[in-house]
Amino acid sequence: MKILFIGDVVGDAGVKALLSGLPDMRRECGADFTIVNGENSSENNGISARSADDIFSAGADVITTGNHAFRRKSILAEYEHNERLIRPANYGDGVAGRGYCEVDCGAYSVAVINLMGTAFMQPVDNPFKCADELLKQITSRIIIVDFHAEATSEKSAMSWYLAGRVSAVIGTHTHVQTADERIINGTGCLTDAGMTGPVNSILGVRKEIIIDKFVNYIPRPHIFADGECRINGVCLEIDRRSGQCVSIERICKTIQ
Ligand SMILES: [Fe+2]
Ligand SMILES: [Fe+2]
Repeated sequence: MKILFIGDVVGDAGVKALLSGLPDMRRECGADFTIVNGENSSENNGISARSADDIFSAGADVITTGNHAFRRKSILAEYEHNERLIRPANYGDGVAGRGYCEVDCGAYSVAVINLMGTAFMQPVDNPFKCADELLKQITSRIIIVDFHAEATSEKSAMSWYLAGRVSAVIGTHTHVQTADERIINGTGCLTDAGMTGPVNSILGVRKEIIIDKFVNYIPRPHIFADGECRINGVCLEIDRRSGQCVSIERICKTIQ
């Protein structure tokens, strides 16, 4: 079976690109199951009930998030009610929502785990030990991990740590797609899937804002850019019986 995994959707422009581009991408990949990281899908950050709705209607089966999971109040109730909308599992106890889900697809089921890194990120529980605990509970053979982290080293460490125990470890958060896809012990690995958002921007934000920040040290609110978008992601082929990754292919599609 094929799984399509899409990197961080950024703002209204990213959501619009996803709505127009995802159906074709699913067809081209032959996707039986689609996972989309939506942590920046609400205009100017976070994820809202509306942007989550749009991502589901674009064709996502599961939405993952990250460090911006709780920026919008409207999403809190959604985390409680919708099992297919998840936030990093290592936020710890007492936080709204769930850190993983298992989706029954009839002949097989797919588990999606969302974890967040600790290097250069806000403090959260240890993601490696959290993964160990979750794997004791999960019964699906097909397990996809969205590891939302800043450091390539931490994402690479997670890939090697979980190799042979999950179907894929795909990194998110940096908004720049890496070219290090590979299969380790039957686990498909890529340290960052990239971004679904405006090309002429700095990680999705209007470039003049970020340039001003670096040149003049003037903090300004991050306003998302618009215009031509790219959808970044990865298409995974997974053996249904063993849960092992058979192939991994990066995707970068421009949406006018
Ligand atoms: Fe992001
Ligand atoms: Fe992030």
